[in-house]
Amino acid sequence: MLNLNGKTLLRSALFAVACSTALMGGPVMSQDQVPQWVPGEPYPREGLRAYACHDYNLPCGKMGSPEIEQVKYTGPRDGDAEKGERIALNVRWGNCLACHSLPKGHEGGTIGPNLSNYGARGLPFEYTFQRIWDGRVYSPNAHMPVYGPNGVLSVEDILDVIAFIESGK
Ligand code: HEC
Repeated sequence: MLNLNGKTLLRSALFAVACSTALMGGPVMSQDQVPQWVPGEPYPREGLRAYACHDYNLPCGKMGSPEIEQVKYTGPRDGDAEKGERIALNVRWGNCLACHSLPKGHEGGTIGPNLSNYGARGLPFEYTFQRIWDGRVYSPNAHMPVYGPNGVLSVEDILDVIAFIESGK
């Protein structure tokens, strides 16, 4: 169990990224380090790990998966819903919309359950955090990317996304 909380939050998150780096044998990049991709050109291979991978047939899906990580976040729950919305809609970041309908009338894919009124369902925060960090703890074979262990979303990004999906009542 990896503990993530307030002051030690960033350090723990970096530690998690460092572990998965070791496991996958390559660097994990943050959003601002991602190489430029020109639409129509092949995606720069060194950038593949920095995105959620949605298909095992794509090169990113053949890169091996990090070990399942169960986490416990105990810090402040102060995500920014507006930033969370941007992360969720951005196809090169969270891209939650590819599989889920989301609050504020965003109609998305139907591979995952509809999250447009997620806030009204009153699910525990810990559950939601773990689902997004690494949902394999609940459903090992579900078609949802593993966002935490491979460094696609930081702890802060996940808090923002949670604030956004919790805003849907
Ligand atoms: C490639 C498809 C896909 C993407 C992209 C995706 N999800 Fe999911 N998600 C799923 C599936 C499938 C499930 C259902 C898992 C199951 O049945 O156990 C799920 C379940 C969930 C749940 C649990 C819902 C419940 O009713 O318990 C949450 C919360 C969630 N996803 C949030 C997100 C967020 C936030 C993002 C973006 C950061 C995201 N998902 C991106 C496919 C996806």
